[in-house]
Amino acid sequence: MKQHRSRQEPRRMGNSAMVITMLLSLCVLTFIKARYCTTPYPNKPAPLLEVEIDDDYDGSRYKISGPIGEEDFDPSRPTCYNTSKRSERCAAVGDIRVDGNHSKIYISPLDKEWRTKPYARRHDQVAMDDVREFALLPFGASNATTVPPLCTRNHSVPAFLFSSGGFAGNLYHDYTDVLVPLFTSTHHFGGEVQFLLADIKDWWLDKFTPLFRHLSNYDVIDVHNDQEVHCFPRIVIGSTFHRAMGIDATRSPGGETVADFKRLLRRAFHLKRDVASREKPRLLIISRKSSRRFLNERAMAHAAALAQFDVRIAEPDNHTDMPNFARLVNSADVMMGVHGAGLTNMVFLPSRAVLVQVVPFGGLEWLSRVTFKDPAKDMDVTYMEYNVSLEESSLKDLYPKDHFYLQHPYDVHKKGWDAIKTVYLDKQSVTLNLSKFADALEHARSLLP
Ligand SMILES: *[C@@H]1O[C@H](CO)[C@@H](O)[C@H](O)[C@H]1NC(C)=O
Ligand SMILES: *[C@@H]1O[C@H](CO)[C@@H](O)[C@H](O)[C@H]1NC(C)=O
Ligand SMILES: *[C@@H]1O[C@H](CO)[C@@H](O)[C@H](O)[C@H]1NC(C)=O
Ligand SMILES: *[C@@H]1O[C@H](CO)[C@@H](O)[C@H](O)[C@H]1NC(C)=O
Ligand SMILES: *[C@@H]1O[C@H](CO)[C@@H](O)[C@H](O)[C@H]1NC(C)=O
Ligand SMILES: *[C@@H]1O[C@H](CO)[C@@H](O)[C@H](O)[C@H]1NC(C)=O
Ligand SMILES: *[C@@H]1O[C@H](CO)[C@@H](O)[C@H](O)[C@H]1NC(C)=O
Repeated sequence: MKQHRSRQEPRRMGNSAMVITMLLSLCVLTFIKARYCTTPYPNKPAPLLEVEIDDDYDGSRYKISGPIGEEDFDPSRPTCYNTSKRSERCAAVGDIRVDGNHSKIYISPLDKEWRTKPYARRHDQVAMDDVREFALLPFGASNATTVPPLCTRNHSVPAFLFSSGGFAGNLYHDYTDVLVPLFTSTHHFGGEVQFLLADIKDWWLDKFTPLFRHLSNYDVIDVHNDQEVHCFPRIVIGSTFHRAMGIDATRSPGGETVADFKRLLRRAFHLKRDVASREKPRLLIISRKSSRRFLNERAMAHAAALAQFDVRIAEPDNHTDMPNFARLVNSADVMMGVHGAGLTNMVFLPSRAVLVQVVPFGGLEWLSRVTFKDPAKDMDVTYMEYNVSLEESSLKDLYPKDHFYLQHPYDVHKKGWDAIKTVYLDKQSVTLNLSKFADALEHARSLLP
């Protein structure tokens, strides 16, 4: 039974008018106050340190035949199991009653009580502290003393429960920890799945609603702020995680890849461009306003314009109009920005576009690799790096030349994530050497199809 969609229905008027103005603008530079997403590292530290790919997954046990969704309910598995070091998922078939307001899920039959947090970042305590735990409680033959609540809403499709908690609002984490795993775990339902979203923030839900509508034929239920008892014949709690912003096709139920995910995003946000082009290429500079700023952004834009690039500068934050921002990114051939969550917008780039990650001073190549370089491959985006030298870094003005931070970045790394973040990410901005920048642009152009 479909819920009606009035809640998300009113689309803001004026979006298309704004985009048309933007795209047709004859100005070389358009400074778009694109508001959306957030500071890439929210108030609390968002440790991007993990490099490990899950290795405890036993692929041989994964059934990829049978009716759609059948592999989610492999009876030879325990109800809850780890799909990777980052994600625990639970699946059950039977009489399932979700009392979301109390974070309780009554299940019959069920072997024993389980507890789980449906967010694919289990190794990260800071993130998990913002994810509420759900209890899976047996009733009926398996526990006659538990009295389940009566169903107030009956659903005929399976439920999929996940949380947007953790680092919601940080675009890198939204895609890595929530959206790509969600796609991996639910695309094969073909829309016949009811999403139950925990730890909701309304602006977050609004932002990604176009995507959810392409994954589910039913409106998302805000599971904690709902007084109903929703009943289902099946439920999956928590996503399967493969790798950061990546999907292992041999392990996804329908053989999906990140290319399929990008195609779905393209449909969801009405993105027109499939492939980048070398003809009058558009350069999109992702701007940041607090840390890791480009201090000579205007000079960069002029240099790029002289080099025959059509330049746009945009700064996404939490409330940026997502559909418009996605279209802007999709219109670019080269996207450049200092390492940070804004680069996650590469999900909207056309195929074979070039992503230029500007890597701040401080031995950050490993961080740059796991966060954007490796994912870019899956995304069919050509990756390029621009290493910031000390001459280009604001750190040279903060510390004397022989300072420990400037001389021994890897020793600073040994002190842990907070040290790295404070010294090299939060307190650094860059002034690009314009001749080096021009060379980088020519290289980027040569990589375009
Ligand atoms: C998943 O792994 C964690 C940590 O190793 C462990 O505490 C947890 O019990 C595991 N979950 C399941 C369902 O086995
Ligand atoms: C049955 O559920 C109650 C709580 O509702 C719990 O205290 C008890 O341990 C459970 N018994 C079994 C056998 O799981
Ligand atoms: C849901 O289904 C159960 C079992 O068929 C039924 O007893 C109950 O009345 C139904 N509840 C609603 C609200 O339709
Ligand atoms: C943006 O999101 C962050 C969390 O990622 C939050 O701390 C901040 O208040 C948000 N800003 C606005 C304007 O909502
Ligand atoms: C349950 O719902 C009420 C009313 O909507 C809400 O105030 C309360 O915070 C909810 N409880 C939880 C645990 O979210
Ligand atoms: C940037 O630095 C890394 C690590 O030192 C190096 O491997 C890479 O080739 C450099 N890239 C460029 C474009 O100089
Ligand atoms: C800028 O980079 C060029 C190499 O592209 C180098 O020759 C020049 O010395 C650099 N300028 C400064 C001020 O560091």
